[in-house]
Amino acid sequence: MTMVSDGSNDRSAREADAETPRHVAVIMDGNGRWAQARGLPRTEGHRKGMETVRRIIRHASKRGVGHLTLYSFSSENWRRPAEEVGFLMGLLKYFIRRDLAELHSENVRITVIGEREDLAADIASLLGEAETVTQANTGLNLVIAFNYGSRDEIVRAVRILAERVARGELAASEIDRDLLSATLFTAGIPDPDLVIRTSGEQRLSNFLMWQAAYSEFVFSPVLWPDFDEAAFDAAIDEYNGRERRFGGVGVRQGAK
Ligand code: IPE
Ligand code: IPE
Ligand code: MG
Repeated sequence: MTMVSDGSNDRSAREADAETPRHVAVIMDGNGRWAQARGLPRTEGHRKGMETVRRIIRHASKRGVGHLTLYSFSSENWRRPAEEVGFLMGLLKYFIRRDLAELHSENVRITVIGEREDLAADIASLLGEAETVTQANTGLNLVIAFNYGSRDEIVRAVRILAERVARGELAASEIDRDLLSATLFTAGIPDPDLVIRTSGEQRLSNFLMWQAAYSEFVFSPVLWPDFDEAAFDAAIDEYNGRERRFGGVGVRQGAK
């Protein structure tokens, strides 16, 4: 893996590294099982998982990843016991309060995707603050998927476009892939090249369904609290061994 030689932490400069995917998205799973295996409450798994979050952000930034999306709370995670939901909300606040200044000083930009309206006012305003403070940063774009669900995201985009059509601002025939993409929470963010899911589960759980149409998937058996820099690098190595075809024939066969 080649690092940018001038030590630049600039997103566009770092995108030149062909070995590092531009956008890595992670379904951070297995916190509860990690805790259960130790006879601890599930919340302890989330606390330990937060340490992994901090490490992986720094590592991805150092490796020159352009965009790192972390699935932190799904639109279905409200189904969990109120105590666990409350803990996860508190953990997000703790993370932003503790890490925002440092991430900002490291040139990290923070983007939040997900439905903001259902969130408590203090959380929504902290998320807004994290985005505003870091919006001009040119290093890693840390995309926090919080209260995020792909189906809700697509429904929301369809409604926005339908309202524009109803107002006469847009013709239905002008709605295409690019316009739908640009109406999603992820507008302006390239589709993920690599989606990693930890803990051995092999499903999308309502994560980036539109955006991951041609992503490579790496499923790691490691529980999120135990996931580390080496495991992240191993996933990228696996990604680099894949051949992406996007519906075509592919270079390996096409060269014959
Ligand atoms: C992932 O770990 C964290 C969140 C979904 C917030 P889990 O809490 O889903 O852990 P398991 O899947 O129960 O082990
Ligand atoms: C997906 O994990 C959501 C996050 C990682 C935030 P879950 O643990 O909620 O997914 P399911 O319920 O096992 O599919
Ligand atoms: Mg889980």
